[in-house]
Amino acid sequence: MTPVEYLQSTEQQRLDEFFQLLRFPSVSAKSEHKSDVAACAAWLTNHLAAIGFKAETVPTAGHPIVYAEYLTDPRRPTILYYGHYDVQPPEPYELWQTPPFEPQIRDGEIYARGSADDKGQVFAHVKGLEANIKATGTLPINVKMIIEGEEEVHSENLPSFIRKNKARLKADIVVISDTAQFGPNLPAVTFGLRGIAAVEVFVYGPSRDVHSGTFGGAIANPVNILCSLVAKLHDQDRRVTIPGFYQNVRPIDKWEKAESKKLPYNERAYMRKLGVPALMGEKGFATYERTWSRPTCDVNGITGGYQGEGTKTIIPSHASCKITMRLVPNQDPVDICNKIEKYLLRIAPKAVKVKVVKHGGARAVIVPTEGPWLEAAARAIKAGFGKKPVFMKEGGSIPIVVDFKQILGLDTLLIGFCQDDDNIHSPNEKFRLVDFERGCRTAAMLPAELATVRL
Ligand code: BES
Ligand code: MN
Ligand code: MN
Repeated sequence: MTPVEYLQSTEQQRLDEFFQLLRFPSVSAKSEHKSDVAACAAWLTNHLAAIGFKAETVPTAGHPIVYAEYLTDPRRPTILYYGHYDVQPPEPYELWQTPPFEPQIRDGEIYARGSADDKGQVFAHVKGLEANIKATGTLPINVKMIIEGEEEVHSENLPSFIRKNKARLKADIVVISDTAQFGPNLPAVTFGLRGIAAVEVFVYGPSRDVHSGTFGGAIANPVNILCSLVAKLHDQDRRVTIPGFYQNVRPIDKWEKAESKKLPYNERAYMRKLGVPALMGEKGFATYERTWSRPTCDVNGITGGYQGEGTKTIIPSHASCKITMRLVPNQDPVDICNKIEKYLLRIAPKAVKVKVVKHGGARAVIVPTEGPWLEAAARAIKAGFGKKPVFMKEGGSIPIVVDFKQILGLDTLLIGFCQDDDNIHSPNEKFRLVDFERGCRTAAMLPAELATVRL
């Protein structure tokens, strides 16, 4: 039996297990889900152990890390697989057609929070490796695997785990499936991810909400002021106005421009997919240049004042918003957080108190676009999807990729199985059954391909 034949003969069981994994509400951002996150980690550890891995649940100051090994022969390549089992909060619940943690298949798509980001993709590798072990009794490579529970909250405790276990994590290359294909039936290898810098802005006015008739006109309204501060983050050309924001930004390579022009792009279809009447972004750049290779500054949430039914005439006492900026080479997240803080404090009127809480972030990454590892991965994708992968970048971030390079000296293969319309971080997240199956097949072919790389 070949690994792929094993996959074919176990499809139903694989789906049942995938559904078990999807049922854990492993929302890392919310403390109320702490025990659900832990239960999900325990399930994965047991699952990997049952397949034959040496697996453990490693506690951290936050959520646990699942670590597993399957070592065969030190002369063979050692692959460090990485993924995350934590998921984004599912809210707003009312927009989900079926509950986020009760997976359901509709029209060939698996609906559940985490189905695409990242449980489905990391599970495809688990099943691909299992297929090799079950079909051949072993693996042609050595495998080390980290499945973390804090990716969606900036991987706070993973870098220290990597630093502490540097020797144990020695490997030749990292494999991550936590990105997307370029489009339906267009599998991709991703060669760059944007970085991220996060801040929270608080604007304080009167010591309590006060009557807007009695005091309106005499004092600053924190919600009005916060909105004007946010409005001042961009100019008319949709460039970010924070002084020095573009200072270290590396211009887009000629090679990269040429590569992205080769990819199919239809502006109308792109607009339709998102339900927007027009696109908007930094002047002078094409859509994918703006999402892949230019930095941005976006409010992710804003709050303040009365939001209940009817009206309430008050000057709210405070307002706040969460901002993340997507970074490109060679911007530094700490430097960017300092710059936005300085700018906002300078332009805020004296009539309010402004506080900027800086959360830091991660640098952008660029990984190699050629070499034997990449060729091996491309062959596995060709076998799994029936199509050669294209090269693309992603605007999203996977913070730990930077640490794999800096701490362990390892490059990463980013081979994504999902689609950009899978609603990751949105209501009705889904993963196409065919993409799950093609992902599993690619993952099953990958070990043999990677095993051919001469060290
Ligand atoms: N899988 C995503 C990253 C991603 C998104 C890659 C879109 C490719 C396309 C990952 O789980 C993620 O959402 N990362 C966060 C990181 C943040 C919380 C530090 C992100 O990009 O917002
Ligand atoms: Mn992810
Ligand atoms: Mn995510």
